[in-house]
Amino acid sequence: MRTALITGASSGIGLELAHVLADEKSDLILVARNKEKLLALAEELKRNNAINVKVIAKDLTKPEEVAALIDEVRNDNIQYLINNAGFGYFGAYHDCDWKTTQDMMELNMTTLAHLTHSFLPKMIEKGSGKILNVASVAGFLPGPNMAVYYATKAFVLHFSEAIAQELKGSGVTVTALCPGPTQSQFMDVSGMAQSKLVKGRKLPTSKQVAEYGYKAMMRGQHVAVHGWGNFVLSVLPRLFPRRLTTWVVGLIQK
Ligand SMILES: NC(=O)c1ccc[n+]([C@@H]2O[C@H](COP(=O)([O-])OP(=O)(O)OC[C@H]3O[C@@H](n4cnc5c(N)ncnc54)[C@H](OP(=O)(O)O)[C@@H]3O)[C@@H](O)[C@H]2O)c1
Repeated sequence: MRTALITGASSGIGLELAHVLADEKSDLILVARNKEKLLALAEELKRNNAINVKVIAKDLTKPEEVAALIDEVRNDNIQYLINNAGFGYFGAYHDCDWKTTQDMMELNMTTLAHLTHSFLPKMIEKGSGKILNVASVAGFLPGPNMAVYYATKAFVLHFSEAIAQELKGSGVTVTALCPGPTQSQFMDVSGMAQSKLVKGRKLPTSKQVAEYGYKAMMRGQHVAVHGWGNFVLSVLPRLFPRRLTTWVVGLIQK
């Protein structure tokens, strides 16, 4: 039986990925801070899909809780690792609170790299396994008013592409999923609900993004940009001078 570990499974894209994987009869390990939400989701998925679902509530900005998670699943046969938990922080960099900024870097980058590092050796030994790292179209761009968030996603994107190449022929694949603005709690958490990037726009649902990401992971695609508009954004730095690209992103993110 396959097991998928999903971080950030209590809402949005992670929750929808849990539904997709449950439909495919994969056992699940659901991780996030909100234990009640995870337990409710686990009950629903077990009832509807006859699978095993384990819930592990952890704050993944804290290295000691990440280490405890790794320890808790040491004997599980994890076939799919989905590094989805992440958050954004909207505002001019000099106005941003440092602790929140540091937590964002820890969760979006260090935890993702640590979990990947922990589960890869077993996958390589077995000659199979899939990792889905949720990056963002932001990873292709410099992002005025969300400078650190965009930079964390550039890390996720480049890191994932690099190790996907290292792992060629090993039977293990790594996919960087790059959604654009998507309906979820992300906008409220990151404080960007009023940003021009999202205000008044009809955004894709988390379910659409999750289904797209799952298919890309199963194909072993290295980079998967969701939607044509986001694809255009992702190639901007290749078509125009970087300063112009930065100016355009700053304008649409005001
Ligand atoms: N929505 C977008 O527009 C968009 C676009 C591009 C990329 N993304 C990326 O997609 C991923 C999922 O975001 P989403 O849109 O689904 O947002 P969301 O609805 O806010 O979901 C974020 C998930 O991460 C978990 N999480 C947050 N902080 C955590 C922590 N300290 N420890 C453990 N879990 C934590 C949350 O659970 P708890 O609160 O229960 O901990 C939640 O399950 C993120 O990496 C985000 O950067 C989103």
